[in-house]
Amino acid sequence: MSDTIEKQKPSRLTVVILAGGKGTRMNSPLPKVLHPVAGVPMIQRIISSCQSAGAAEIRVVIGHGSNLVKQVIEPLGVTTHIQQNQLGTADAVKSVDIDSLEGDVLVLNGDHPLISAEDIAYFLKEFREQKLDVAVVSATLKNPNEFGRIVRHKGDLKAIVEARDASVETLKIREVNTGIYLMKADSLQEYLPRIQNNNLKQEYYLTDLISLAIEDHCRVNVIKGTPRAALGVNNQQELAHATRVIFRRKVKALLEAGVLVIDPFTTYVEESVSVGNGSVLYPNVYLRGATKVGSYCVIESNCMLNDVQIADSVQVRANSYLESCKIATKATIGPFARIRPETEIGEEAHIGNFVELKKVKFAARAKAGHLTYLGDAEIGEDTNIGCGTITCNYAVDRNKYKTIIGKNVFVGSDSQFVAPVTIGDSAVIGSGSTITKDVPAKALAVARSKQFVKENYVKEEKEE
Ligand code: UD1
Ligand code: CA
Repeated sequence: MSDTIEKQKPSRLTVVILAGGKGTRMNSPLPKVLHPVAGVPMIQRIISSCQSAGAAEIRVVIGHGSNLVKQVIEPLGVTTHIQQNQLGTADAVKSVDIDSLEGDVLVLNGDHPLISAEDIAYFLKEFREQKLDVAVVSATLKNPNEFGRIVRHKGDLKAIVEARDASVETLKIREVNTGIYLMKADSLQEYLPRIQNNNLKQEYYLTDLISLAIEDHCRVNVIKGTPRAALGVNNQQELAHATRVIFRRKVKALLEAGVLVIDPFTTYVEESVSVGNGSVLYPNVYLRGATKVGSYCVIESNCMLNDVQIADSVQVRANSYLESCKIATKATIGPFARIRPETEIGEEAHIGNFVELKKVKFAARAKAGHLTYLGDAEIGEDTNIGCGTITCNYAVDRNKYKTIIGKNVFVGSDSQFVAPVTIGDSAVIGSGSTITKDVPAKALAVARSKQFVKENYVKEEKEE
């Protein structure tokens, strides 16, 4: 009776991620596992895949650059364990206090960013269904290069041999160790301490656990994975490759969802971004973070959008840079516009070329067509901001002040607003004005020097 209950209870899954290595071949000051793959640090990708696959706990082995790695990953809900000296993958696993483990343990490398939750769920299902004690995930590669080889005898797994320790014959094997293992906590506790460092590098190889378990007649098997699970990042080229794979996958999903992507090869959309159907993305568009683009929008070439919320039917013309802002339906932005954080653009509003906005509420149907800076401002509905308008928001006391311009105001070209200043509804500001005082509704304000004309100023040249 108690036996059946025991069997029905799903075993606890603990994940151990190995991320202590230096990543020498990255040739980069950043710890290897923090390098972003399509905008997300590679270790964060692995952590989220493990979490989505139902990991009860994740322990990460860190070493090189541990302070930085800790800062990035601890907020994701994992524990970090420092490996003092990098004595090999088996030594790394020892750092996570293996005696406290129970249930099933998944060990994987922190530099295989393409591993998905579905992959992990599949490996776990196989491991549990086959009632294994130890399993290694393999992949068959065209160029197995530096991967450890899966050595079989009459089809059965015998050992994993590192490329650098392998004979010419063994190097011909194309089935490789992906560096992903599943094991019962008991088996790990039993065999890990027995691993020796009798190899060329004098390192403790986790792969030796396989042969130890086989010798002891444990249930050990290979689970076949895809080349994607094997894709490790050891240098910048492999990082760029992994990034490309993720961008390609995203663009494919967008195309399937009815987004018109003119050139899928040069369109970069992070996985976290959504784009509504019927929208068009031109070449060289880069959409990042929490960006949401509605339907029937057009984003022209060379636009960078970071954490931007765009409603339906918005046009963002070429060479515009938008961050942390909200654009309402039917607005048009750019070309060459810069929209900075905390800006909201209303329905059917128009922002033209060489216009910069920061922390602005720009109401419906308002227009700022050319060469303008608006910062810390509110612009009312139907107001027209003339070419060359500037809000002087930054005062000599190093504080920022607000400009409030009402509805239906007409601001003539080349005007400055020295904040704090408030302009009433339907007021008119004469061109070239430097406005330093509030202007009431419906008033005309002109603040420029009077035009001076001296007739016949230029003398006609006398004929000789
Ligand atoms: C390892 C496997 C190899 C497999 C390959 C897959 C061993 C001995 N070999 O080789 O069979 O084909 O992965 O990618 O396990 N790490 C530590 N501390 C250490 C050493 C490594 O945390 O002391 C971490 C690294 O940061 C890395 C992972 O373990 O994330 C793998 O180490 P790495 O040196 O890259 O192993 P490979 O030589 O690639
Ligand atoms: Ca590696």
